[in-house]
Amino acid sequence: MSAAALHVRGLTAGYGPVTALRGVSLDVPDGAVVAVLGGNGAGKSTLLRALSRTLAFHGGAVTDGTVTFADRPLHTLPPDRIVAAGLCHVPEGRQVFARMTVEDNLRAGALAARKGTKAGAFKRVHELFPVLAERARQRAGLLSGGEQQMLAVARALMASPRLLLLDEPSLGLAPLMAARIADTIREINAQGTSVLLVEQNAALALRLASQAYVLEVGEVTIEGPAPELAASDEVRRRYLGVVDEEAADDAAPAEVPHLARWEHA
Ligand SMILES: Nc1ncnc2c1ncn2[C@@H]1O[C@H](COP(=O)(O)OP(=O)(O)OP(=O)(O)O)[C@@H](O)[C@H]1O
Ligand SMILES: [Mg+2]
Repeated sequence: MSAAALHVRGLTAGYGPVTALRGVSLDVPDGAVVAVLGGNGAGKSTLLRALSRTLAFHGGAVTDGTVTFADRPLHTLPPDRIVAAGLCHVPEGRQVFARMTVEDNLRAGALAARKGTKAGAFKRVHELFPVLAERARQRAGLLSGGEQQMLAVARALMASPRLLLLDEPSLGLAPLMAARIADTIREINAQGTSVLLVEQNAALALRLASQAYVLEVGEVTIEGPAPELAASDEVRRRYLGVVDEEAADDAAPAEVPHLARWEHA
């Protein structure tokens, strides 16, 4: 089997007259976690929809560019072949089937699984998310927001993807729950699944990723190794919420004990 690397070149997409992606190129090496950062409306969800070929369901279309995965062109495949090709997309807003049980949500995820990958999938997701085993017969709509996000990720894993596309998995979660989701993403990756992670939570994404891209108004404006982006002044100021440190030093009183305590917490 060829290495499951994703290569995106010159991807241009939009919704009618609105161009949402302009000539986006990026790579997800086999086995990597790659992050895409960007503010509201930057085109992050559009990128994932273009990759999973679900853009048409949102009234959009890809107008230019190529996508290859494991040396196969994806941009010509129909959407129902994408999961079989090894990509699974967890859309933003954790869209679980609220009226179905947790177990049936997981079964639904296995429907599109690649041949020979179903056995062991339940065991794997129950090990990753023990709470989903405990709540197997509960309706998914009754789970907490964080548990629903876990279920959305777990449902995608039931298809044993080689590349997981995650759209803002930490959105709306309390810091502790977001940290648990981050740990799980690390574990999923350690088990051999590549991850393309779209996040507004740049701090979380840069801790997980080896490589990162910044998307602004549909274009890649910054790219590089995640530690380099985490150290860059522009990324720190615009995406990590770090204020200009010199100005902050000038403005700060000589002693700020509660800030010092916070730093060492
Ligand atoms: N279904 C749609 N129909 C028309 N325009 C859309 C649609 N979805 C997104 N857009 C537009 O495309 C652009 C990119 O939106 P997109 O949802 O990809 O951004 P995003 O980076 O995911 O933002 P957010 O962080 O808010 O989720 C925006 O200008 C948005 O208004
Ligand atoms: Mg989005």
